Amino acid sequence: MKLNHRNKIRIFFSLFLLFSVYTVVVAVSDTEKPENLPPISYNARKGKLLFQDYNCISCHQIYGLGGYMGPDLTNCYREKGEIVIRHFLKHGSPKMPNYKLSENEIDELTEYLEYIDKTGVYPVTNYKLNWYGTVESLN
Ligand code: HEC
Repeated sequence: MKLNHRNKIRIFFSLFLLFSVYTVVVAVSDTEKPENLPPISYNARKGKLLFQDYNCISCHQIYGLGGYMGPDLTNCYREKGEIVIRHFLKHGSPKMPNYKLSENEIDELTEYLEYIDKTGVYPVTNYKLNWYGTVESLN
C-alpha cells in the first residue's frame, strides 16, 4: 500500500477507532476481585481503623504495598500465627515501636490481619496475564 495522503488518513482513523474502542472497554470493564470474599467482621473493621490510625503501613506492606522497614503482613496470620502477631503487638521489638495497645486493640488488629490473610496472597507466584493488560492472581 502506497502511503499517500489518503492512506495515511485511513491508518490514522483506524488506529483512532481502535484506541477509542479499547478506551471504552477498559473504562466500562469491572475490576476483577476474588469471588467469595469473606465478610469483614465488626472487630476486623475496627482493627482496620486502628491500622490506619497507627499508620502501620508506613513500615509494613499489605499486598506488597506500603513502607519497607517491616515485613509484608498480607499472610503473616497463616505464616507466623496468632501468637507471634500478638507478641509483636504487645511488646513491639527493637525495630518496631511498642504502641502500648490495650487488649481490645490487640484483638481487633489481630482479627484484621486474619481477615487480610483470607483476602489474598503476597507475593503472587502464579498469575494470568489478560489480553487487555491486567494481571489476575491464581494463587
Ligand atoms: C517503625 C516501623 C514500624 C511500625 C510503625 C510498625 N511496625 Fe510492625 N514491625 C516492624 C519491624 C521492623 C518488624 C520486624 C521486627 C523484627 O524482626 O524485630 C515488625 C514486625 C511486625 C509483625 C510480625 C510480622 C512478622 O512477619 O514477623 C507484626 C504482626 C507487626 N509488625 C504488626 C504491626 C502493626 C499492626 C503495626 C501498627 C499498629 C505495626 N506493626 C507498626 C516495624 C514497624
